[in-house]
Amino acid sequence: MKFDTNAVRGRSSPDPTTGAIIPPIYQTATYVLEEVGKDKGFDYTRSSNPTRQDLEEHLAAIEGGQYCIAFSSGMAGADSCMKLLSKGDHVVCCDDVYGGTARLFNNLMTNYGVEFTYVDSQDSANVEGAIQSNTKMIWIETPTNPLLKVTDLEAVGKTAKSHGLLYVVDTTFATPVFLRPLEYGADIVLHSLTKYLSGHNQLIGGALITNDSGLFEKLKYIQKSVGAVPSPFDCWLTILGLKTLHLRMSRHWENAEKIARYLEGHPKVSRVIYPGLESHPMHEVARRQMSGFSGMISFELNGGLEAGKRLMNSVELCMLAESLGAVETMITHPATMTHAEVPREERLARGFEDGLVRLSVGIEDSEDLIADLERAFKDV
Ligand SMILES: Cc1ncc(COP(=O)(O)O)c(C=O)c1O
Repeated sequence: MKFDTNAVRGRSSPDPTTGAIIPPIYQTATYVLEEVGKDKGFDYTRSSNPTRQDLEEHLAAIEGGQYCIAFSSGMAGADSCMKLLSKGDHVVCCDDVYGGTARLFNNLMTNYGVEFTYVDSQDSANVEGAIQSNTKMIWIETPTNPLLKVTDLEAVGKTAKSHGLLYVVDTTFATPVFLRPLEYGADIVLHSLTKYLSGHNQLIGGALITNDSGLFEKLKYIQKSVGAVPSPFDCWLTILGLKTLHLRMSRHWENAEKIARYLEGHPKVSRVIYPGLESHPMHEVARRQMSGFSGMISFELNGGLEAGKRLMNSVELCMLAESLGAVETMITHPATMTHAEVPREERLARGFEDGLVRLSVGIEDSEDLIADLERAFKDV
């Protein structure tokens, strides 16, 4: 099946008992056994649930993977990947990652003896150069949050393979509409379902997708042991979101590209980062591995932090909020919101300035969004 068909139909068929076109929500904690030792494939919802299974099959289909595990958040998925590691293991990680991922790695996992080295993976040689004798995993986010750095997934995939390392790729910003890391050698793909995949700011969720049955079994065991499972209702809402993912993404991209070009030509803007712009240092790699670009733009104003704050406080249609990937346009100040716990010196060292503004362009009319920004720029 082609991508758009998988997005709409997933792998589920109408409900066999009633013909309901949308599968029911199996809101149950447990399942009655037919006799001792004989169930109908489900025994307890922490282990599995039919609505969650529908979502997992749907996500596996659009990611082009064999197996999927849905979680109660993207971070729960990331945490489960960390539980594949042991004390003394080392991870090579791209230097610009979501603030929550950095918090998990630096403030929690280091307490369990896991070590991290951060490199600018836009140069894939930096990843190879950071590998140590105890390295077990390469962790890449692409495009990154918030600097929209792009990693050549195939190049890093070859490094991971030649050193026998687990290769985890978080492509929350790209979605499987535009990028499918399993095709480039990733062992595990991570998504925050909270963002584009559910798409309507209605829930928190996460997913891991893999083609490796051994990894799937281990991750399933971790989830069953820890219990970071999404509710059946959230799974059902995510399924509804997935059905329009491809349509939403093309509109996010179309709107974002118009706004990125508008910002690039604006006299009050000093820097625009958008992988779809020719000015992005990894534009060619992004074009090669992605079939489109999403709605995420980061930019800086000439007046730095103060100017950025004035803009974010003046917009009306763009909403000042801490998330991304939904139909509504959201504007964020990463330094005080999503990445508040990343030490300032670390941020500055990688070019993440105090005044950076992040825009998650929604699917409203782009002219209204540009008019809103134009009005707000007058207050800057
Ligand atoms: C790139 C990326 N990965 C993972 C996450 C974590 O997802 P969640 O908020 O669903 O736990 C986020 C959240 O913003 C993110 O931006």
